[in-house]
Formats: sequence, structure tokens, C-alpha cells
Amino acid sequence: MTTAVLDVYLTEADGQAALRADARAGLTAIPKVLPPKWFYDARGSELYERITELAEYYPFNAEREILRERAGEIAAASGAETLVELGSGSSEKTRWLLDALTEAGTLRGYLPLDVSESALRDAARSLAEEYPALSVHGIVGDFTQHLGRIPARGKRLLAFLGGTIGNLVPAERADFLHSARAALRPGEQLLLGAGLVIDPATMVTAYDDPSGVTAEFNLNVLRVLNRELDADFDLGAFRHVALWNAEREWIEMRLRATRRMIVHVAELGLDVPFAEGEELLTEVSAKFRRDGVRTELRAAGFELTEWWTDSTNRFALTLATAL
Ligand code: SAH
Ligand code: TRP
Repeated sequence: MTTAVLDVYLTEADGQAALRADARAGLTAIPKVLPPKWFYDARGSELYERITELAEYYPFNAEREILRERAGEIAAASGAETLVELGSGSSEKTRWLLDALTEAGTLRGYLPLDVSESALRDAARSLAEEYPALSVHGIVGDFTQHLGRIPARGKRLLAFLGGTIGNLVPAERADFLHSARAALRPGEQLLLGAGLVIDPATMVTAYDDPSGVTAEFNLNVLRVLNRELDADFDLGAFRHVALWNAEREWIEMRLRATRRMIVHVAELGLDVPFAEGEELLTEVSAKFRRDGVRTELRAAGFELTEWWTDSTNRFALTLATAL
């Protein structure tokens, strides 16, 4: 039987401590804010999978199209022996890369890293079965903290897909790109998926589908707080809001309180007052332009070598080399 190795860089205890700190800071901030990584418990990861099946959520299909078309070129350009993937989730689109790199004959190992242990475990198990010749080594970790601990086995290609880079605000993004560069040797590559700035209506609908799956996903972060911190958020008293911030060029996901209330977070000994209409910012999803991506990569020590878009020009996949 084929098995996949799973390493835990982020233990249950670390996760709990981080959630407490983030919840305390974010729920007492003005305006209120929560970091997006707390969406992804087992239920959140399943809801994200359902989002990727929505016709409105075009980034998934657009990136898949590019990977399908370009996987051969990527494999030839990288010659990677190890594919490292950050925020890999179900690794569904990654199969295009794994196939092409296997065919090119260079690939030995796949290292998916994700904060969601359940998604990682399922993906690693399936992939170890589907690719018996491949060493699959999952890492439960945080890509904003653990890049320095990624093993260096052979030449690596570091993939960061799904437009997840857009979930980092600019300062976090610069830190992330610098850590990614520091984790690589010169000549190793970064494969980055980024949503592009397009018409606002299409972007907003991708984050506010009529069937309400995205709303459920957004509200899931409150369920996580209720369960993990013994909070008493009434999910029925919050409404999902997605809007385009034209100045920052990002989508904002918020949860709007539909009535005045005080939420108790027992584990923190915290009472959190909400005014009617008050909003909690749960995620930004920045959209990009080619020049901006090239400049940010350059500032972190990467040279953009390829820029591929899907047939509707909504999403870009970038290949960059560590200088
Ligand atoms: N790459 C997949 C999934 C994107 S969703 C795709 O393209 O469809 C974002 C993924 O990043 C989720 O699997 C989530 O669990 C993971 N994630 C979010 N924040 C993270 C963090 N700080 N560190 C590691 N993984 C994170
Ligand atoms: N990385 C995804 C993105 O920004 C995550 C995501 C998709 C998401 N749909 C969402 C996050 C809805 C919050 C709400 O595109």
C-alpha cells in the first residue's frame, strides 16, 4: 500500500493560541477584522470545494484552463524534482502539473503545505495512490510562517495557486514574497496564480453567488469561533457582504450585523459589542495587473519569466525565477 507522510509544523496547541490571539486582536480592533485562514476547518475546506464548482467563481476554471494548456511548458522550463505547493487544499488543479512533471521525467516528490489538516490528509492520501512513484510529503503549516522550514530536496518549483496571494494585504504580500525568495536557491522557480482586475460586477458575483455557498463559507468563520473559543455568535444575525474596493483593487468580504448585540467569547473572557449594521472584515482578495506583479516580484528578488492568461483574460499564471 502507498502511504503519504504528513508533518505537522502547526500543532493543535499552536493553532489554538494563534486563533485566540487573532480573535482577541481582531474583535477589539476598529473596524473589526479576522484573518482568513480561520475559514478553513474541515467544513470550511468542503465549502471552498463547493465554491470552486460554482459557475460564478471563474478564478478556479480560468486557472485550470491555463494549467491544462501550459503544464508542459512549465515542466520543461522548471525541470523540477520537487513540487512544493502552498495552500494546496484538495490539490485538484495540481494534477496537471504533476502529470506534466512526471512525463518530463524530473519529478521525485510533492510537498503540499496547508493550514487545513483535513484537506491536506485527504489530498495526500489520494495523490499517494494516484502517483505511486511519487514521494508525497504533506506539511500542516502556515505559509506566512513556515517557508524557512521547507526541505530542500533537489530542484524545486514553488507553486502558489488559486489567487490566494490576493488574500494577503500588501505588507503581508511583500513579507511573503521575501520569505519565498529566501526559501529558494537562485534558479529555483515560483509559479504564482493571480486574479486580474476586470469588471467589478463579474468579480463581485464570484464572491457573492446567488445560491449562497459563499455566504455559508464566510459565516463559517463564526462557527469556528463558536466551537473553538466557546463564543455565542448568532449566525442568523450576520449577513454576507462582498464589495469591490476600487482604490485598493481588492474584493472585501465582510459580515454585517443585522441587529445590535453583544457577543460573548467565553474562552477569551471577552464581550464584543456590535452596532446594527456594523461590519467585520473577514477577507480581502486583491486583483492584479501585470506591471504590479512584475514590480512586486522584482522587489523580492524574482524575475518574471512567463505571464500566461486564460482565454477570457481574467486570471494570470506567472512563472518567476529566484535571482
Ligand atoms: N490551491 C487551491 C486552494 C485555494 S483556497 C485552489 O487553487 O483551489 C486557499 C487554501 O489556502 C486553503 O486550502 C486554505 O486552507 C489554505 N490557507 C489559507 N491560509 C493559509 C495559511 N496562512 N497557511 C497555509 N495555508 C493556508
Ligand atoms: N483564495 C480564494 C480567493 O480569494 C478564497 C475565496 C474564494 C474566498 N471565495 C471566497 C474567501 C469567498 C472568502 C469568501 O479567491
